[in-house]
Amino acid sequence: MTGGPKECRRRAEPAPGTMRVTILGTGYVGLVTGLSLCALGHRVTCIDVDTARISMLQQGAIPFFEPGLDSALGDAMDVGLIRFDSDMSMLEDEEADIVFVCVGTPGTTGGATDLSQVADAVKTYANHVRSPSVLAVKSTVPVGTTRWIENYLTGRGLGDSVSAVSNPEFLREGMALLDAANPARIVIGASRPWALEVMERLYRNVDAPILCVSPEEAELIKYASNAFLALRLSYVNTLADFCEHWGADIRRVASGMGMDPRIGHAFLRAGLGFGGSCLPKDVRSLAEQYHRVGLGSGLLLETLQVNGARVERAMAKLRQSLGDLSGKRVALLGLAFKPGTDDIRESQSMRLLTALTSEGCRVRAYDPRAVSRARAHSPDATYTQSARDACTGCDAVVVATEWPEFRELPWDQIIRAMKGRAILDCRNFLNGKELTRWGAHYLGMGIALDGMDSS
Ligand code: UGA
Repeated sequence: MTGGPKECRRRAEPAPGTMRVTILGTGYVGLVTGLSLCALGHRVTCIDVDTARISMLQQGAIPFFEPGLDSALGDAMDVGLIRFDSDMSMLEDEEADIVFVCVGTPGTTGGATDLSQVADAVKTYANHVRSPSVLAVKSTVPVGTTRWIENYLTGRGLGDSVSAVSNPEFLREGMALLDAANPARIVIGASRPWALEVMERLYRNVDAPILCVSPEEAELIKYASNAFLALRLSYVNTLADFCEHWGADIRRVASGMGMDPRIGHAFLRAGLGFGGSCLPKDVRSLAEQYHRVGLGSGLLLETLQVNGARVERAMAKLRQSLGDLSGKRVALLGLAFKPGTDDIRESQSMRLLTALTSEGCRVRAYDPRAVSRARAHSPDATYTQSARDACTGCDAVVVATEWPEFRELPWDQIIRAMKGRAILDCRNFLNGKELTRWGAHYLGMGIALDGMDSS
């Protein structure tokens, strides 16, 4: 093929402003991206090799919990803007303006990123694309991957009609639709002006700054942002331990730091540390990428090390309070890696569950959303129908994920129904003074129960 995209086969113009989008991968990022684009009026086809998942989606069911996603799917289906298919050759008929790569990029044991699903998606695209389009990479991929894809497409003789861009995603689980509709920024890493123009058209009705950078810079912005958030958390967690030494309260210290507009308040909540499918994996991958180019990654490795030690820190507190943990009955409230999701991937709360059971505790665990995933992962614990059920008759309660409803529990009654008195609040979010008044032995992660109110 020679010349620019204009030389390719033309197609009927869709309604003004509407673009045709195909999404490869119907995981978290793919579905949220697809439904957010439908909300902007674009026509979206989601393709996935997982036939069971596709038939579930075709029936209007979302395979995981994310607030608002099921009604967004219903809305998109009602107006006929979304379709699901498991046949990759659909790409030939779709004549998409943009094909998004939203497949998984899991970490490997050494921290490197497994790009096999991305490679499959790119090959599929190259085999089936029939019209000019942009291949937009939303999956988090190591720096240099988008350039590599662009070169691969050129090598396949497609370089004049298609182009790869990096368009990283910054949405948070639990807030995904809100984040996708109101992004702080849209980052587009394109090497060809026409591809950038196509991407800008897609987002023209989104009220957010568009940052046009090189593909490498776009990929870096994604890793650097997640790693920086992780670094902040490990920093504040080491501070929490130091606060304990001085009888200071990390919540007041973090609040004082955050008042400096150069610092800000976000991601300064100390506690059990960070988990999820992104932060830990991305820090490990970035460290491995530094290593590969001969740069030291000590800061990143320390971030992970500090985070890993949070679970043991919580265990030590519990031992201090209960003595030998073997045979103790412990209620564990919260299993998801954070509130608002049923996701337990790399959840610190799940790690705590494992630590408790391997030390011989009889764990009774509860989470508003994540119990069935947790049971499949750790069948040894007992899972209860309610937080109250978990706590009744136990020696200690450990709150590991800060679901807002845990704050609202009838703690006076729960404390009376416990056998012991220890409540370990790994997220520093319960009202410790009130719990203490009701007879609990309340423990946090770097907090002080003095006269000053910080809960
Ligand atoms: C993270 C990023 O925040 C998103 O911007 C990014 O798009 C996403 O990864 C991704 O790469 O896909 P997410 O994994 O949903 O989003 O989780 P976060 O909200 O970042 O929370 C990560 C962890 O940090 C959680 O375990 C949370 O409990 C913990 N955290 C967060 C704290 O311990 N303290 C805080 O102050 C904030």
